[in-house]
Amino acid sequence: MILLVTGGAGFIGSNFVKHRLENTSDKIIVLDALTYAGVLDNLKSYLNDSNLLVPTSQYDLKKIEKTINQYGVTYNDVKDEVESKRLSSKLREFSPKYINIEDLNEKIEEVLENTRLAFVVGNIIDSTLDEKLMNLSDIVVHFAAESHVDRSIFNADAFVKTDVYGTYSLLEAAKKCEKLNKFIHISTDEVYGQAKEKPFKETDPLNPRNPYSASKAAADRMAYAYYQTYGVPVVIVRPSNNFGPNQYPEKLIPVVTIKALNNEPIPVYGDGKQRRDWLYVEDTAKAINLLIEKGEIGQAYNVAGRNERENMFVVERILEITGKSKDLIKHVKDRPGHDLRYLIDDTKIRGLGFKQDRTFEELFDHTVKWYLKNKNWWEKILREDEEYKEFMEKWYENR
Ligand SMILES: NC(=O)c1ccc[n+]([C@@H]2O[C@H](COP(=O)([O-])OP(=O)(O)OC[C@H]3O[C@@H](n4cnc5c(N)ncnc54)[C@H](O)[C@@H]3O)[C@@H](O)[C@H]2O)c1
Repeated sequence: MILLVTGGAGFIGSNFVKHRLENTSDKIIVLDALTYAGVLDNLKSYLNDSNLLVPTSQYDLKKIEKTINQYGVTYNDVKDEVESKRLSSKLREFSPKYINIEDLNEKIEEVLENTRLAFVVGNIIDSTLDEKLMNLSDIVVHFAAESHVDRSIFNADAFVKTDVYGTYSLLEAAKKCEKLNKFIHISTDEVYGQAKEKPFKETDPLNPRNPYSASKAAADRMAYAYYQTYGVPVVIVRPSNNFGPNQYPEKLIPVVTIKALNNEPIPVYGDGKQRRDWLYVEDTAKAINLLIEKGEIGQAYNVAGRNERENMFVVERILEITGKSKDLIKHVKDRPGHDLRYLIDDTKIRGLGFKQDRTFEELFDHTVKWYLKNKNWWEKILREDEEYKEFMEKWYENR
């Protein structure tokens, strides 16, 4: 089976790709634009000199050729120039192959004869690219998104472009692709909005309250509409808050761990009593595998960790593990529209056989220790991502 995985360089996407490669004999095509959140190192052990592909248009290739002839520079010089414009430093340490878009599918087929992963650097908004890749695939698993609520409050533009329009582009391609068996759309528990005492069921109305969850809700319903209207074989997955290795260091667990290690103040929104349900990233991968196999087309499935904790619990446990003082905690102004609680009922997917086999405490400690052991991974991101530094400074400036 061939899977097209969008957003495969991100946190959940890369964990899913690794889990799938380790536990099945499938071949995988990743499509990822390598935004700030896309980290090639997440899949480093599966990337080689031949399977990282950058599609270029005929125009780009002509320009490269012309510049080489005119100035006598080497291909590598021009390649660097193209890279720096397009993907800043992301590709620097790798050896991508620049492929004319017309020849892309042939190249992917050749790559997949020898290895099980082909990584295509590209944007889901590009419907030509989506169509081409879907024609090679049996299943789509669509993770690609702008995923950070704080950033969406700061500026929602990229969220609408990627989460809404990008999903629409993929669905349009899926509509035209007759051989596709399933389109697994990764939504989120946040689409329901703030929970009170009763957990949300899949049939409850969506009531998103921040730009991120609103764009995800739009995508979720667009996917459903493409099933109802055009028969696209959509299955919608709504997981709760994920945690685990390789999460971009802007999210709660990595951010607190890194700040604790560096003895920096740890910003906690308001009183820190907001509650989240925590789901281990590998369990999300298992849930998706189950839905690839047994998920009913046209249905949505909640996936909960059944580990509801207050944010303060998370912060204090990290301080315990890292041996740091609670004095580092700094309560800051709460974020606007902050949902106090997310809570979902996942009876439906449990009925298909979904279960976890490790405790929250075990997995939580394992995760924090992963960040302690893999300093190189996050130090490199913090060193190189200027945009991240700028965002964090502006976001916490007046809090
Ligand atoms: N992290 C969570 O707790 C959580 C919980 C529930 C659902 N989700 C959903 O799961 C998915 C993955 O979340 P994550 O935390 O791994 O996100 P992430 O931000 O870590 O990764 C997103 C990935 O998508 C890629 N991407 C972004 N825009 C793109 C575009 N236009 N074209 C192609 N690639 C693009 C990025 O380069 C990155 O690799 C998202 O759809 C998110 O809404 C996340």
